[in-house]
Amino acid sequence: MRCLLDISDLTVEDLDTILGLSERSAWPPVLDGKGVALLFEKPSARTRNSAEMAVVQLGGHPVTIKGDEVGLASGRESPQDLIRTLACYHALVGARVFSHRVLVEMRDELVRASLEVPVVNLLSDYSHPCQAICDLLTIRQLSPHNERVRLAYVGDCNNVSRSLAQVCIMSGIDINIATPPEYWFSESDLEEILSVRADNGGMDKTGTQEPGQLNLYDDPFKAVEGCDFVYTDVWASMGQEDEANSRREAFEDYQVTSQLMNAASPGARFMHCLPAHRGLEVANEVMDAECSVVFTQAENRMHAMRGILLFLLDQSSTQ
Ligand code: CP
Ligand code: NVA
Repeated sequence: MRCLLDISDLTVEDLDTILGLSERSAWPPVLDGKGVALLFEKPSARTRNSAEMAVVQLGGHPVTIKGDEVGLASGRESPQDLIRTLACYHALVGARVFSHRVLVEMRDELVRASLEVPVVNLLSDYSHPCQAICDLLTIRQLSPHNERVRLAYVGDCNNVSRSLAQVCIMSGIDINIATPPEYWFSESDLEEILSVRADNGGMDKTGTQEPGQLNLYDDPFKAVEGCDFVYTDVWASMGQEDEANSRREAFEDYQVTSQLMNAASPGARFMHCLPAHRGLEVANEVMDAECSVVFTQAENRMHAMRGILLFLLDQSSTQ
């Protein structure tokens, strides 16, 4: 049984397989007559809708559950008992949680009980692998030539940038991260991010691709130089609402503006996982500019989720 809690659960070859499955134009009804539980401890527009539709496209029935309905946070039930219960009805469980530890406990319980029900991380405080796979799909679709791609991420070192950095490194995409130094990833975070390089031998399955380079900057203008994509995310993530004001001050020079886009490569695209705070991490005019591919990303969440479901369900049935 394969779960997707983090990008580090995948090899470079797995990523290629998922991208290929995401782009298939005909879908086998692998979920015919089956349920998929989608648990949300935090709000969601894209993840919930894309996951529900991907399940329907594969012939299954999504059951979306809000966190307060099951009461994980209030201690109504343990993650272990909840996942054992959901596994009675569903072929797969996706969960958006405050604490990544809850996903780990669910996965460990399924393994302990020998239950073949994959768990998928629909965003935790630690990582957002489904978003990063969608972003890689989008970057590949928009970079059809075999040239080396360079991406600048301007903003907070968070769940989104962690997973994005990992798919970039694994796929030979250079990533520059511009963040105020006090918000940089810690040394141990960086080690974990870079571990995907060692785990995958630093090459793709053809053995020819160099891993992507990760560079940290405090100057966003230096970070975007020569980059084909400029990506940002909110300055205060869900669960960090108390820090919104101090973060707004710390990040005020890190807004993605037209001037910043002009300092990137000619034709550079703007990316955002959404939801966006217009006027904070991104200027209004950039969101609406021709270079903005944010709604291509939003659509690709559904295609990528179908690829992820096909991959995990196939891995579960063949092991
Ligand atoms: N990008 C993303 O995960 O969006 P939602 O929070 O709306 O699901
Ligand atoms: N970093 C953001 C991503 C939202 C999709 C958050 O965790 O709130």
